[in-house]
Amino acid sequence: MSFIPQGGIEVPAVAGITFAPDADYLAANHMIGLAPLSNELHPFTMIRSALLDHARATGTRVFAVTSAEPGNGKTHIAANLAMVLARVHPTVLVELDLRRPSLGERLGLPDDYAGVDDYLAGECPWSATQARIEGLDLAVHRVRRPRLDAEALLASNGLPLALRNRQFLDSGAICIIDTPPAILSDDMVLIARSVDGMLVVAEEGRTARGALREIAHAVSPTPIIGTVLNRSISQPMRRIDYGYYKSGPREA
Ligand SMILES: Nc1ncnc2c1ncn2[C@@H]1O[C@H](COP(=O)(O)OP(=O)(O)OP(=O)(O)O)[C@@H](O)[C@H]1O
Ligand SMILES: [Mg+2]
Repeated sequence: MSFIPQGGIEVPAVAGITFAPDADYLAANHMIGLAPLSNELHPFTMIRSALLDHARATGTRVFAVTSAEPGNGKTHIAANLAMVLARVHPTVLVELDLRRPSLGERLGLPDDYAGVDDYLAGECPWSATQARIEGLDLAVHRVRRPRLDAEALLASNGLPLALRNRQFLDSGAICIIDTPPAILSDDMVLIARSVDGMLVVAEEGRTARGALREIAHAVSPTPIIGTVLNRSISQPMRRIDYGYYKSGPREA
């Protein structure tokens, strides 16, 4: 049995793909999570440790990376964090920026297999959207093409079904989600319902304090479990910094 999503590609019912990323291509896209340990990678290992501690302490496993504006570095942080995490723990990286997807291109994934968008439109099973990254315990689910009907797709029950499915729960994996900007549409409100905690990326000199409050309000009651300061101006050596903002289990 196969499914033929709107874009016209034929998708096997279960498969997905296995993918061997190209190291030079990743480096050109600032994807450093597979590279040997270095100073550049250090902030991501710090975030990884804090996230693992948080997951163990709270028993939660689905975390989204968001920010106030486009271009703050959400995809950069989510993808590198997922790769660094996958070195030590089973990891699933999911793209939910349906309006302006970039994860597939950032990692060099092919575009001839199904995406999260096809799954949410009911056109293929979740497993068909998976790219297993060779040499790592990492499954990536990217969006195949931009969708104008993002709101409707994110409001469907496909999203909670994918993030709470038996295979994912049994695997013990941690899920990192790359999202759209939190306050430009209500996409993030819809995503937050299926998420245990948020990591908020802020840029020094660009992200206003009020915007962080607005994000906290938009995703409530999902807690913000950490903030990531990206592209620090005052401390250029520390291009990424991590602060623990709030922890604890999701409020009922
Ligand atoms: N710390 C960093 N070091 C190097 N490059 C970075 C860093 N943070 C972001 N970038 C680069 O800046 C650009 C924007 O980052 P990215 O796409 O991750 O932002 P985004 O918040 O996901 O944007 P969008 O809202 O459009 O999805 C990308 O080219 C990314 O590679
Ligand atoms: Mg992005």
